Amino acid sequence: MELEPLLPILPLTAQVNTSGHLVLGGCDTVELAHRFGTPLYVLDELTMRTMCRQFRHEFRSRHPDTTIIYACKAYIGLAMASLVAQEDLGADVVSGGELAFLITVGFSPEKIYFHGNNKSPQELEEALRYQVGRVVVDNFYELELLERVAAQLGRRQPVLLRISPGVDPHTHAKTTTGTVESKFGIPIADGQAREAVAKAGSSEHLELVGLHFHLGSPIFDVAPYQEAIRITIGFAADALGPRFQELGVGGGFAAQYVPQQPPPSISAYAEAIVHALKEECRRYRIPTPRLVVEPGRAIVARAGVALYTVGAWKAVPGGKRYISVDGGMGDNIRPALYGAQYVALLANRLLEPATERVTVAGKFCESGDVLVWDAHLPSPRPGDLLAIPAAGAYTLAMASNYNASLRPAVVMVKDGEARLVRRRETYKDLLQCEVWP
Ligand code: LLP
Repeated sequence: MELEPLLPILPLTAQVNTSGHLVLGGCDTVELAHRFGTPLYVLDELTMRTMCRQFRHEFRSRHPDTTIIYACKAYIGLAMASLVAQEDLGADVVSGGELAFLITVGFSPEKIYFHGNNKSPQELEEALRYQVGRVVVDNFYELELLERVAAQLGRRQPVLLRISPGVDPHTHAKTTTGTVESKFGIPIADGQAREAVAKAGSSEHLELVGLHFHLGSPIFDVAPYQEAIRITIGFAADALGPRFQELGVGGGFAAQYVPQQPPPSISAYAEAIVHALKEECRRYRIPTPRLVVEPGRAIVARAGVALYTVGAWKAVPGGKRYISVDGGMGDNIRPALYGAQYVALLANRLLEPATERVTVAGKFCESGDVLVWDAHLPSPRPGDLLAIPAAGAYTLAMASNYNASLRPAVVMVKDGEARLVRRRETYKDLLQCEVWP
Protein backbone atom coordinates (compact mmCIF):
# COMPACT_ATOMS: atom_id res chain seq x y z
CA MET A 1 0.00 0.00 0.00
CA GLU A 2 1.13 3.57 -0.60
CA LEU A 3 1.99 4.72 2.91
CA GLU A 4 3.46 8.11 2.07
CA PRO A 5 0.11 9.99 1.67
CA LEU A 6 -1.10 8.43 4.91
CA LEU A 7 1.80 9.63 7.06
CA PRO A 8 0.12 12.90 8.14
CA ILE A 9 -2.88 10.84 9.28
CA LEU A 10 -0.91 8.22 11.21
CA PRO A 11 0.72 8.76 14.62
CA LEU A 12 4.16 10.38 14.56
CA THR A 13 5.86 7.10 15.46
CA ALA A 14 4.23 5.04 12.66
CA GLN A 15 6.61 2.72 10.79
CA VAL A 16 6.48 -0.41 8.69
CA ASN A 17 8.67 -3.34 9.73
CA THR A 18 10.27 -5.91 7.45
CA SER A 19 7.24 -8.21 7.81
CA GLY A 20 5.07 -5.43 6.39
CA HIS A 21 3.38 -4.81 9.73
CA LEU A 22 2.32 -1.41 11.03
CA VAL A 23 4.44 -0.40 14.02
CA LEU A 24 3.21 2.25 16.48
CA GLY A 25 5.24 3.59 19.37
CA GLY A 26 7.79 0.87 18.63
CA CYS A 27 5.13 -1.87 18.99
CA ASP A 28 4.13 -4.23 16.18
CA THR A 29 0.35 -3.87 15.84
CA VAL A 30 -0.03 -7.54 14.84
CA GLU A 31 1.53 -8.50 18.16
CA LEU A 32 -0.66 -6.00 19.99
CA ALA A 33 -3.74 -7.58 18.41
CA HIS A 34 -2.60 -11.06 19.52
CA ARG A 35 -1.84 -9.91 23.01
CA PHE A 36 -4.87 -7.71 23.71
CA GLY A 37 -7.45 -8.90 21.14
CA THR A 38 -9.50 -6.74 18.77
CA PRO A 39 -11.14 -4.32 18.43
CA LEU A 40 -8.28 -2.50 20.06
CA TYR A 41 -7.60 1.21 20.32
CA VAL A 42 -3.92 2.09 20.28
CA LEU A 43 -2.94 5.56 21.51
CA ASP A 44 0.52 6.82 20.70
CA GLU A 45 1.83 8.76 23.67
CA LEU A 46 4.43 10.76 21.76
CA THR A 47 1.81 12.11 19.35
CA MET A 48 -0.44 13.27 22.18
CA ARG A 49 2.40 14.88 24.11
CA THR A 50 3.72 16.55 20.96
CA MET A 51 0.31 18.03 20.21
CA CYS A 52 -0.03 19.34 23.79
CA ARG A 53 3.40 20.98 23.49
CA GLN A 54 2.65 22.39 20.06
CA PHE A 55 -0.49 24.10 21.32
CA ARG A 56 1.38 25.53 24.28
CA HIS A 57 4.30 26.72 22.20
CA GLU A 58 2.38 28.14 19.22
CA PHE A 59 -0.06 30.14 21.34
CA ARG A 60 2.23 31.19 24.19
CA SER A 61 5.04 32.32 21.91
CA ARG A 62 2.55 34.79 20.44
CA HIS A 63 0.55 35.58 23.57
CA PRO A 64 2.26 34.42 26.78
CA ASP A 65 -0.91 34.78 28.82
CA THR A 66 -2.62 31.82 27.13
CA THR A 67 -4.15 28.89 28.98
CA ILE A 68 -4.51 25.68 27.00
CA ILE A 69 -7.19 23.36 28.32
CA TYR A 70 -7.77 19.88 26.94
CA ALA A 71 -11.42 19.17 26.05
CA CYS A 72 -12.00 15.86 27.82
CA LYS A 73 -15.07 15.09 25.72
CA ALA A 74 -12.80 14.05 22.83
CA TYR A 75 -11.42 11.17 24.92
CA ILE A 76 -10.93 10.69 28.63
CA GLY A 77 -9.44 7.92 30.72
CA LEU A 78 -7.29 7.98 33.84
CA ALA A 79 -4.05 7.60 31.88
CA MET A 80 -5.11 10.41 29.56
CA ALA A 81 -6.07 12.67 32.46
CA SER A 82 -2.69 12.12 34.00
CA LEU A 83 -0.88 12.75 30.70
CA VAL A 84 -2.72 16.07 30.34
CA ALA A 85 -1.70 17.02 33.89
CA GLN A 86 1.94 16.08 33.21
CA GLU A 87 1.89 18.26 30.09
CA ASP A 88 0.77 21.15 32.26
CA LEU A 89 -2.51 21.73 30.42
CA GLY A 90 -5.79 22.58 32.09
CA ALA A 91 -8.96 20.70 31.27
CA ASP A 92 -12.48 21.37 30.03
CA VAL A 93 -15.18 19.12 31.47
CA VAL A 94 -18.88 18.96 30.67
CA SER A 95 -20.09 16.54 33.30
CA GLY A 96 -19.57 15.35 36.83
CA GLY A 97 -18.27 12.13 35.24
CA GLU A 98 -15.44 13.85 33.39
CA LEU A 99 -14.67 15.77 36.55
CA ALA A 100 -14.45 12.47 38.48
CA PHE A 101 -11.76 11.18 36.10
CA LEU A 102 -9.66 14.31 36.67
CA ILE A 103 -10.10 14.37 40.43
CA THR A 104 -9.16 10.68 40.61
CA VAL A 105 -5.70 11.39 39.19
CA GLY A 106 -5.19 14.45 41.38
CA PHE A 107 -5.67 17.04 38.63
CA SER A 108 -5.40 20.62 39.97
CA PRO A 109 -9.02 21.82 40.33
CA GLU A 110 -8.13 25.44 39.64
CA LYS A 111 -7.11 24.38 36.11
CA ILE A 112 -10.55 22.93 35.37
CA TYR A 113 -13.23 24.74 33.36
CA PHE A 114 -16.76 23.37 33.72
CA HIS A 115 -18.86 23.74 30.54
CA GLY A 116 -22.28 22.56 29.47
CA ASN A 117 -25.75 23.86 28.66
CA ASN A 118 -27.61 22.04 31.43
CA LYS A 119 -25.38 21.35 34.37
CA SER A 120 -27.36 19.75 37.17
CA PRO A 121 -27.52 21.24 40.66
CA GLN A 122 -25.49 18.23 41.83
CA GLU A 123 -22.81 18.78 39.17
CA LEU A 124 -22.52 22.45 40.09
CA GLU A 125 -22.26 21.55 43.73
CA GLU A 126 -19.50 19.03 42.97
CA ALA A 127 -17.68 21.60 40.84
CA LEU A 128 -17.80 24.18 43.62
CA ARG A 129 -16.84 21.75 46.36
CA TYR A 130 -13.77 20.73 44.35
CA GLN A 131 -13.17 24.45 43.73
CA VAL A 132 -12.85 24.31 39.95
CA GLY A 133 -11.19 27.33 38.40
CA ARG A 134 -14.08 28.46 36.21
CA VAL A 135 -17.69 27.63 35.62
CA VAL A 136 -18.66 28.66 32.10
CA VAL A 137 -22.25 29.80 32.47
CA ASP A 138 -24.37 28.98 29.45
CA ASN A 139 -27.78 30.56 30.16
CA PHE A 140 -29.96 32.58 32.55
CA TYR A 141 -31.31 29.51 34.32
CA GLU A 142 -27.78 28.47 35.19
CA LEU A 143 -26.88 31.97 36.38
CA GLU A 144 -29.59 31.75 39.01
CA LEU A 145 -28.91 28.14 39.89
CA LEU A 146 -25.19 28.70 40.30
CA GLU A 147 -25.79 31.80 42.38
CA ARG A 148 -27.91 29.71 44.76
CA VAL A 149 -25.43 26.83 44.93
CA ALA A 150 -22.51 29.21 45.52
CA ALA A 151 -24.46 31.03 48.23
CA GLN A 152 -25.24 27.74 49.99
CA LEU A 153 -21.58 26.75 49.92
CA GLY A 154 -20.41 30.21 50.89
CA ARG A 155 -18.23 30.50 47.83
CA ARG A 156 -17.56 33.24 45.31
CA GLN A 157 -17.10 31.40 42.03
CA PRO A 158 -15.15 32.87 39.10
CA VAL A 159 -17.24 32.51 35.93
CA LEU A 160 -17.09 33.12 32.22
CA LEU A 161 -20.29 33.78 30.30
CA ARG A 162 -20.72 31.70 27.17
CA ILE A 163 -22.03 34.01 24.53
CA SER A 164 -23.30 33.14 21.09
CA PRO A 165 -21.57 35.43 18.60
CA GLY A 166 -23.73 34.44 15.61
CA VAL A 167 -20.91 33.07 13.46
CA ASP A 168 -21.30 30.04 11.21
CA PRO A 169 -18.11 27.92 11.17
CA HIS A 170 -19.37 25.77 8.24
CA THR A 171 -19.04 22.46 10.01
CA HIS A 172 -21.50 19.56 9.90
CA ALA A 173 -24.91 20.87 11.05
CA LYS A 174 -24.81 18.56 14.06
CA THR A 175 -21.54 20.05 15.31
CA THR A 176 -22.19 23.76 14.66
CA THR A 177 -22.61 25.80 17.85
CA GLY A 178 -21.67 29.39 17.09
CA THR A 179 -24.88 30.42 15.35
CA VAL A 180 -27.72 32.17 17.17
CA GLU A 181 -30.10 29.22 16.69
CA SER A 182 -27.75 26.95 18.63
CA LYS A 183 -28.79 25.49 21.97
CA PHE A 184 -25.54 26.81 23.44
CA GLY A 185 -24.70 30.26 24.73
CA ILE A 186 -26.39 33.60 25.21
CA PRO A 187 -26.93 35.59 22.00
CA ILE A 188 -25.24 38.96 21.68
CA ALA A 189 -27.43 40.12 18.81
CA ASP A 190 -30.73 40.63 20.65
CA GLY A 191 -29.35 42.11 23.86
CA GLN A 192 -29.56 38.97 26.00
CA ALA A 193 -25.79 38.81 26.52
CA ARG A 194 -25.77 42.37 27.83
CA GLU A 195 -28.49 41.51 30.29
CA ALA A 196 -26.55 38.42 31.43
CA VAL A 197 -23.41 40.49 31.97
CA ALA A 198 -25.37 42.92 34.14
CA LYS A 199 -26.87 40.07 36.11
CA ALA A 200 -23.59 38.22 36.65
CA GLY A 201 -21.78 41.47 37.38
CA SER A 202 -24.15 42.39 40.20
CA SER A 203 -24.08 38.94 41.78
CA GLU A 204 -22.72 38.50 45.26
CA HIS A 205 -21.48 34.97 44.76
CA LEU A 206 -20.29 35.01 41.16
CA GLU A 207 -17.20 36.81 39.95
CA LEU A 208 -17.51 37.57 36.25
CA VAL A 209 -14.02 37.44 34.73
CA GLY A 210 -14.70 37.19 31.02
CA LEU A 211 -16.43 35.62 28.05
CA HIS A 212 -16.33 32.38 26.14
CA PHE A 213 -17.53 31.15 22.76
CA HIS A 214 -17.20 27.87 20.91
CA LEU A 215 -18.13 27.87 17.26
CA GLY A 216 -18.24 24.23 16.20
CA SER A 217 -15.99 21.35 15.34
CA PRO A 218 -13.98 20.61 13.26
CA ILE A 219 -13.32 24.04 11.72
CA PHE A 220 -11.03 23.81 8.69
CA ASP A 221 -10.70 27.58 8.32
CA VAL A 222 -9.30 30.30 10.59
CA ALA A 223 -11.70 33.04 9.44
CA PRO A 224 -14.66 32.11 11.69
CA TYR A 225 -12.46 32.47 14.79
CA GLN A 226 -11.38 35.93 13.67
CA GLU A 227 -14.91 37.04 12.95
CA ALA A 228 -16.13 35.78 16.32
CA ILE A 229 -13.24 37.53 18.10
CA ARG A 230 -14.12 40.81 16.38
CA ILE A 231 -17.75 40.55 17.46
CA THR A 232 -16.94 39.44 20.99
CA ILE A 233 -14.26 42.04 21.72
CA GLY A 234 -16.53 44.80 20.44
CA PHE A 235 -19.19 43.59 22.83
CA ALA A 236 -16.80 43.03 25.76
CA ALA A 237 -15.15 46.45 25.50
CA ASP A 238 -18.54 48.05 25.80
CA ALA A 239 -20.40 45.74 28.17
CA LEU A 240 -17.71 44.40 30.52
CA GLY A 241 -15.07 47.08 30.77
CA PRO A 242 -12.33 46.16 33.27
CA ARG A 243 -14.04 42.88 34.20
CA PHE A 244 -12.96 41.53 30.82
CA GLN A 245 -9.85 39.62 31.89
CA GLU A 246 -10.29 36.40 29.97
CA LEU A 247 -11.55 35.25 26.57
CA GLY A 248 -12.19 31.60 25.74
CA VAL A 249 -12.29 30.91 22.02
CA GLY A 250 -13.34 27.27 22.34
CA GLY A 251 -11.93 24.32 20.45
CA GLY A 252 -12.74 23.05 16.99
CA PHE A 253 -9.19 22.75 15.65
CA ALA A 254 -9.38 20.23 12.85
CA ALA A 255 -7.50 16.96 12.52
CA GLN A 256 -6.60 15.18 9.31
CA TYR A 257 -8.75 12.14 8.56
CA VAL A 258 -8.15 11.64 4.83
CA PRO A 259 -5.24 12.63 2.56
CA GLN A 260 -7.37 15.09 0.53
CA GLN A 261 -8.31 17.32 3.47
CA PRO A 262 -5.34 18.68 5.42
CA PRO A 263 -6.28 21.06 8.26
CA PRO A 264 -4.57 24.38 9.00
CA SER A 265 -1.45 23.96 11.14
CA ILE A 266 -1.62 24.80 14.85
CA SER A 267 0.63 27.77 14.16
CA ALA A 268 -1.82 29.04 11.51
CA TYR A 269 -4.70 28.86 14.00
CA ALA A 270 -2.55 30.53 16.69
CA GLU A 271 -1.38 33.29 14.36
CA ALA A 272 -4.90 34.11 13.18
CA ILE A 273 -6.46 34.01 16.65
CA VAL A 274 -3.78 35.97 18.50
CA HIS A 275 -3.51 38.51 15.70
CA ALA A 276 -7.26 39.16 15.71
CA LEU A 277 -7.31 39.34 19.50
CA LYS A 278 -4.52 41.90 19.72
CA GLU A 279 -5.81 43.96 16.82
CA GLU A 280 -9.33 44.21 18.22
CA CYS A 281 -8.09 45.08 21.70
CA ARG A 282 -5.94 47.83 20.20
CA ARG A 283 -8.92 49.11 18.26
CA TYR A 284 -11.02 49.41 21.42
CA ARG A 285 -8.06 50.52 23.54
CA ILE A 286 -8.48 47.78 26.10
CA PRO A 287 -5.78 45.51 27.58
CA THR A 288 -5.40 42.14 25.85
CA PRO A 289 -7.13 39.57 28.06
CA ARG A 290 -5.88 36.10 28.93
CA LEU A 291 -6.65 33.75 26.04
CA VAL A 292 -8.16 30.33 26.74
CA VAL A 293 -7.93 27.69 24.02
CA GLU A 294 -9.73 24.33 24.26
CA PRO A 295 -8.43 21.72 21.83
CA GLY A 296 -9.81 18.20 22.13
CA ARG A 297 -9.79 16.51 18.73
CA ALA A 298 -6.47 18.01 17.64
CA ILE A 299 -4.72 16.50 20.68
CA VAL A 300 -5.96 12.91 20.36
CA ALA A 301 -7.34 12.21 16.88
CA ARG A 302 -4.04 11.47 15.19
CA ALA A 303 -2.63 9.59 18.17
CA GLY A 304 -5.33 6.91 17.94
CA VAL A 305 -5.46 3.92 15.61
CA ALA A 306 -8.35 1.45 15.81
CA LEU A 307 -7.45 -2.17 15.06
CA TYR A 308 -10.09 -4.66 13.92
CA THR A 309 -10.03 -8.24 12.67
CA VAL A 310 -11.58 -8.84 9.26
CA GLY A 311 -14.29 -11.52 9.26
CA ALA A 312 -17.18 -12.00 6.85
CA TRP A 313 -17.28 -10.68 3.31
CA LYS A 314 -19.86 -10.58 0.56
CA ALA A 315 -20.21 -9.35 -2.98
CA VAL A 316 -23.40 -7.57 -4.04
CA PRO A 317 -24.82 -7.31 -7.57
CA GLY A 318 -23.03 -4.46 -9.32
CA GLY A 319 -19.61 -5.59 -8.17
CA LYS A 320 -19.35 -3.91 -4.77
CA ARG A 321 -17.72 -5.96 -2.03
CA TYR A 322 -18.27 -5.65 1.70
CA ILE A 323 -15.87 -6.81 4.34
CA SER A 324 -17.03 -6.86 7.94
CA VAL A 325 -14.92 -6.23 11.00
CA ASP A 326 -15.41 -7.09 14.68
CA GLY A 327 -16.26 -3.51 15.78
CA GLY A 328 -18.16 -0.64 14.17
CA MET A 329 -20.67 1.97 15.26
CA GLY A 330 -20.46 0.80 18.88
CA ASP A 331 -16.88 2.04 19.11
CA ASN A 332 -16.94 4.63 16.31
CA ILE A 333 -20.30 6.16 15.52
CA ARG A 334 -18.87 9.11 13.57
CA PRO A 335 -19.36 7.71 10.04
CA ALA A 336 -22.95 6.71 10.83
CA LEU A 337 -23.76 9.95 12.65
CA TYR A 338 -21.97 12.58 10.57
CA GLY A 339 -20.97 10.77 7.40
CA ALA A 340 -17.39 11.15 8.69
CA GLN A 341 -14.68 9.91 6.32
CA TYR A 342 -11.83 7.64 7.33
CA VAL A 343 -9.26 5.59 5.47
CA ALA A 344 -8.43 1.96 6.22
CA LEU A 345 -5.27 -0.06 5.81
CA LEU A 346 -4.27 -3.64 6.36
CA ALA A 347 -1.86 -3.45 9.28
CA ASN A 348 -0.50 -6.96 8.60
CA ARG A 349 0.08 -6.47 4.82
CA LEU A 350 1.38 -2.95 4.39
CA LEU A 351 3.95 -3.88 1.76
CA GLU A 352 1.33 -5.29 -0.64
CA PRO A 353 -0.21 -3.06 -3.32
CA ALA A 354 -3.82 -1.93 -2.87
CA THR A 355 -5.80 -3.70 -5.59
CA GLU A 356 -9.38 -3.58 -4.47
CA ARG A 357 -12.06 -1.12 -3.45
CA VAL A 358 -14.23 -2.41 -0.64
CA THR A 359 -16.75 -1.13 1.86
CA VAL A 360 -15.74 -1.76 5.46
CA ALA A 361 -18.82 -2.60 7.50
CA GLY A 362 -19.14 -2.99 11.24
CA LYS A 363 -20.84 -5.91 12.99
CA PHE A 364 -23.77 -4.00 14.47
CA CYS A 365 -27.35 -4.73 13.44
CA GLU A 366 -27.92 -1.63 11.40
CA SER A 367 -27.37 -0.97 7.67
CA GLY A 368 -25.82 2.40 8.48
CA ASP A 369 -23.05 0.69 10.41
CA VAL A 370 -20.30 1.30 7.88
CA LEU A 371 -16.84 2.52 8.89
CA VAL A 372 -15.34 3.28 5.47
CA TRP A 373 -17.43 3.41 2.29
CA ASP A 374 -14.60 3.22 -0.18
CA ALA A 375 -11.44 1.64 1.20
CA HIS A 376 -8.56 0.90 -1.14
CA LEU A 377 -6.85 -2.27 0.11
CA PRO A 378 -4.82 -5.32 -0.90
CA SER A 379 -7.64 -7.85 -1.40
CA PRO A 380 -8.64 -8.38 2.27
CA ARG A 381 -9.07 -11.88 3.71
CA PRO A 382 -10.70 -13.10 6.91
CA GLY A 383 -8.19 -12.80 9.73
CA ASP A 384 -6.45 -9.71 8.32
CA LEU A 385 -5.82 -6.86 10.74
CA LEU A 386 -7.59 -3.73 9.56
CA ALA A 387 -6.42 -0.39 10.94
CA ILE A 388 -8.35 2.88 10.91
CA PRO A 389 -6.07 5.86 11.60
CA ALA A 390 -7.07 9.19 13.14
CA ALA A 391 -9.43 7.31 15.43
CA GLY A 392 -8.46 8.84 18.76
CA ALA A 393 -11.12 11.55 19.07
CA TYR A 394 -14.86 11.16 19.65
CA THR A 395 -14.77 7.41 19.09
CA LEU A 396 -14.29 5.72 22.48
CA ALA A 397 -15.71 8.86 24.05
CA MET A 398 -18.98 8.24 22.19
CA ALA A 399 -18.87 4.45 22.39
CA SER A 400 -21.95 2.50 23.42
CA ASN A 401 -22.95 -1.02 24.36
CA TYR A 402 -25.41 -1.25 21.45
CA ASN A 403 -26.30 -4.88 20.71
CA ALA A 404 -24.96 -5.60 24.21
CA SER A 405 -21.50 -5.42 22.71
CA LEU A 406 -18.35 -5.04 24.77
CA ARG A 407 -16.43 -1.81 24.48
CA PRO A 408 -12.82 -2.29 23.31
CA ALA A 409 -9.59 -2.29 25.24
CA VAL A 410 -7.24 0.70 25.02
CA VAL A 411 -3.45 0.57 25.07
CA MET A 412 -0.96 3.41 25.16
CA VAL A 413 2.27 2.75 23.32
CA LYS A 414 5.66 4.35 23.83
CA ASP A 415 9.26 3.27 23.10
CA GLY A 416 8.32 -0.32 22.34
CA GLU A 417 6.19 -0.72 25.48
CA ALA A 418 2.42 -1.19 25.40
CA ARG A 419 0.47 -0.27 28.52
CA LEU A 420 -3.12 -1.44 28.92
CA VAL A 421 -5.01 1.63 30.12
CA ARG A 422 -8.54 0.26 29.79
CA ARG A 423 -9.34 -3.43 29.74
CA ARG A 424 -11.88 -4.88 27.35
CA GLU A 425 -15.34 -5.04 28.88
CA THR A 426 -16.78 -8.39 29.88
CA TYR A 427 -20.31 -9.80 30.01
CA LYS A 428 -20.11 -9.23 33.75
CA ASP A 429 -19.60 -5.50 33.14
CA LEU A 430 -22.70 -5.51 30.94
CA LEU A 431 -24.79 -7.20 33.59
CA GLN A 432 -23.55 -5.45 36.70
CA CYS A 433 -26.02 -2.56 36.67
CA GLU A 434 -29.05 -4.78 36.07
CA VAL A 435 -31.43 -5.23 38.97
CA TRP A 436 -32.96 -8.70 38.83
CA PRO A 437 -35.11 -10.51 39.73
N1 LLP B 1 -14.89 23.54 23.89
C1 LLP B 1 -16.24 23.40 23.83
C2 LLP B 1 -17.08 24.31 24.58
C3 LLP B 1 -16.78 22.38 23.04
O1 LLP B 1 -18.10 22.23 22.99
C4 LLP B 1 -15.94 21.50 22.32
C5 LLP B 1 -16.48 20.42 21.51
C6 LLP B 1 -14.54 21.67 22.44
C7 LLP B 1 -14.06 22.72 23.22
C8 LLP B 1 -13.54 20.79 21.76
O2 LLP B 1 -13.67 20.81 20.37
P1 LLP B 1 -12.54 20.05 19.51
O3 LLP B 1 -11.25 20.80 19.70
O4 LLP B 1 -12.45 18.67 20.00
O5 LLP B 1 -13.03 20.09 18.12
N2 LLP B 1 -18.73 14.56 18.40
C9 LLP B 1 -18.30 15.48 17.38
C10 LLP B 1 -17.59 16.66 17.96
C11 LLP B 1 -18.41 17.40 18.98
C12 LLP B 1 -17.66 18.54 19.60
C13 LLP B 1 -18.38 19.08 20.78
N3 LLP B 1 -17.75 20.16 21.44
C14 LLP B 1 -17.42 14.75 16.37
O6 LLP B 1 -17.20 13.55 16.54
O7 LLP B 1 -16.97 15.34 15.38
